[in-house]
Amino acid sequence: MIYYICLLLAATVVQVVFAQCDGPSVTISTADDATGISNCGTFNGDIIIADSISGPLALTGISHLKGDLTCNNATKLTEISFHQLVTISGSFTLTGLTTLSNLKFDSLMEVGDIIWNDLPALQTMDFTTGIVTADRVSISNTKLRSLSDLKFTSCNAIEIFNNPELATVSFNDLTNTTDTISISDNSPSLEVEFQKLASSRGLTLQNANALNVPLLDTLVGNLNLSYNSFRSFSAPSLTLVVDVFITSNPLLSSLSFPLLPEINGNLLITNNSRLGAISFPKLQTVSGSLNLTGEFSRADFPVITNIQGDTIIETTINNSTICGQFNSTGTVTCNFGTEPPQDVTIDTSTNSTSTNSGGGNTNDTSSNDSGGNSSTSSGGISGAAIGGIVAGVIVLVLAAGGFWWWRRRKNQNSGRPEKLEDSTPELPMGGHHEKPELQGSERFRHQDPSMYELKDNPMRKGPTYGRAELGWDNQIAEMEGSSVPEMSSDGRR
Ligand SMILES: *[C@@H]1O[C@H](CO)[C@@H](O)[C@H](O)[C@H]1NC(C)=O
Ligand SMILES: *[C@@H]1O[C@H](CO)[C@@H](O)[C@H](O)[C@H]1NC(C)=O
Ligand SMILES: *[C@@H]1O[C@H](CO)[C@@H](O)[C@H](O)[C@H]1NC(C)=O
Ligand SMILES: *[C@@H]1O[C@H](CO)[C@@H](O)[C@H](O)[C@H]1NC(C)=O
Ligand SMILES: *[C@@H]1O[C@H](CO)[C@@H](O)[C@H](O)[C@H]1NC(C)=O
Ligand SMILES: *[C@@H]1O[C@H](CO)[C@@H](O)[C@H](O)[C@H]1NC(C)=O
Ligand SMILES: *[C@@H]1O[C@H](CO)[C@@H](O)[C@H](O)[C@H]1NC(C)=O
Ligand SMILES: *[C@@H]1O[C@H](CO)[C@@H](O)[C@H](O)[C@H]1NC(C)=O
Ligand SMILES: *[C@@H]1O[C@H](CO)[C@@H](O)[C@H](O)[C@H]1NC(C)=O
Ligand SMILES: *[C@@H]1O[C@H](CO)[C@@H](O)[C@H](O)[C@H]1NC(C)=O
Ligand SMILES: *[C@@H]1O[C@H](CO)[C@@H](O)[C@H](O)[C@H]1NC(C)=O
Ligand SMILES: *[C@@H]1O[C@H](CO)[C@@H](O)[C@H](O)[C@H]1NC(C)=O
Repeated sequence: MIYYICLLLAATVVQVVFAQCDGPSVTISTADDATGISNCGTFNGDIIIADSISGPLALTGISHLKGDLTCNNATKLTEISFHQLVTISGSFTLTGLTTLSNLKFDSLMEVGDIIWNDLPALQTMDFTTGIVTADRVSISNTKLRSLSDLKFTSCNAIEIFNNPELATVSFNDLTNTTDTISISDNSPSLEVEFQKLASSRGLTLQNANALNVPLLDTLVGNLNLSYNSFRSFSAPSLTLVVDVFITSNPLLSSLSFPLLPEINGNLLITNNSRLGAISFPKLQTVSGSLNLTGEFSRADFPVITNIQGDTIIETTINNSTICGQFNSTGTVTCNFGTEPPQDVTIDTSTNSTSTNSGGGNTNDTSSNDSGGNSSTSSGGISGAAIGGIVAGVIVLVLAAGGFWWWRRRKNQNSGRPEKLEDSTPELPMGGHHEKPELQGSERFRHQDPSMYELKDNPMRKGPTYGRAELGWDNQIAEMEGSSVPEMSSDGRR
């Protein structure tokens, strides 16, 4: 009897020796299972942590995992540590681990996909080296406060949402993502920084408090900012973008795109109730439609010449100069209201957003803003004020003054007829990318600009907003397929 048992054991050991470092997969249900693979420097296959496992789990020995590391629904697992592991070529998937509170990966640097979803107890991660490379990253429904152990120099898609404690996302070594970045519904105080990001396929930010993208040059897709609480946003380096959607940012008072020459899709700016100034100083062409609605006192589009879709501009403020700028761009509906213009300045600080409250625009009647003395642009400077920004603002104020003077002269000289036309306001937002030639520009060519009629209607607010926005969103969603594609969980490479 004992003899047979020994034989059996020996056979098992032999089998383990042969099989232990090659997959297709190993399932870890006990500490012994973990020991079984601890002599493999490289494991070729998937490691699956069984859902029955409980307590902390320590894995060691493996440096390179050529496969996935997966743990789903192990509701009693409290911690995973994995010393020595440097690479995971496949996906690192953790989902539904309701008591997992820590991850300790001393050496991990490279991962295929990171998929961490529904980890409601996960507050910290302890990655000594830090992950520098990943393909796609999806982190949602965790209690993580920081992602500082993710030090990406390379990452292709980022999706971070519903992490209510997450107050900082800084990927400051990342220069590009080939797919989209989407960060939504994390801590309302979330500050997002991409100090070196130059290109991405799209950037969506929702419910955040700051966004810094000082070097962002190219977005081959949307810039979508909604429900954020920052006071200003600037894309100081942006030169290429498809669609720009800036909607429902209740504190946003300053917006700046100082270099942007062309929008290859649509521009929508709406429901930002504090936004008094919109500035696109270099924008010449919009390939889709342009829709600006709000309570802005100024909208500077000094060189706009071509909007291929429809143009809809509505402000409650009485400033006909805004409309005048669009008198040669195609089909224009421009309505301005009766409220007197406010003093507003345009922020061009190098930081992309500003959240501090020193700015003058929190109260529209604040009067010290536009004088040469006050350096407080709408971006605001409090506590940590910076000399450079003061200089910048002075230059800006001078420039704005110059522009104002220039425009005033121009306006005086032209004795403009003030005829702008609302020829086909009911047309759907057409054009976009597919058929840009058909809409605005054709019409424009056949239109005598002097037939334009400037409509001085007080703006109708209210219900139209929501309805129209929905329409737009749907259309865009169809058009672009713009959301982050589902991340594959078996994307081993
Ligand atoms: C995990 O549990 C959820 C429900 O509790 C279930 O829908 C899901 O399929 C499970 N996932 C796996 C991989 O077993
Ligand atoms: C994006 O970055 C990767 C490295 O992270 C690089 O190999 C690739 O060429 C870059 N692509 C672009 C378009 O800059
Ligand atoms: C406008 O923005 C406010 C504040 O963000 C939001 O509560 C409201 O729902 C938005 N309205 C529409 C129609 O989107
Ligand atoms: C009216 O709008 C134009 C164009 O944006 C701007 O230059 C001007 O300063 C605005 N006027 C006032 C009084 O705000
Ligand atoms: C708008 O402002 C102009 C002067 O800039 C003034 O003549 C006109 O009466 C104002 N319109 C309304 C409706 O307040
Ligand atoms: C710009 O952002 C950096 C980092 O967030 C911050 O340290 C600096 O004070 C900011 N500068 C200004 C002028 O806001
Ligand atoms: C703006 O100032 C007026 C008085 O000057 C005050 O009644 C109002 O509450 C202020 N609004 C804000 C948003 O601070
Ligand atoms: C605005 O300027 C007046 C005098 O011009 C000064 O008394 C007041 O303190 C200033 N307010 C702010 C907020 O700087
Ligand atoms: C600017 O304001 C400060 C204090 O508000 C005042 O001391 C100074 O004389 C002002 N400078 C100018 C040029 O108005
Ligand atoms: C259009 O606006 C420009 C400058 O704003 C002005 O010079 C030109 O006369 C305007 N043309 C018409 C037809 O209003
Ligand atoms: C432009 O946006 C406003 C506000 O969202 C909306 O009322 C209007 O219908 C939009 N226009 C078009 C053509 O989508
Ligand atoms: C912008 O992003 C929000 C949040 O992710 C999304 O709901 C909305 O559909 C997006 N809008 C467009 C036009 O893509």
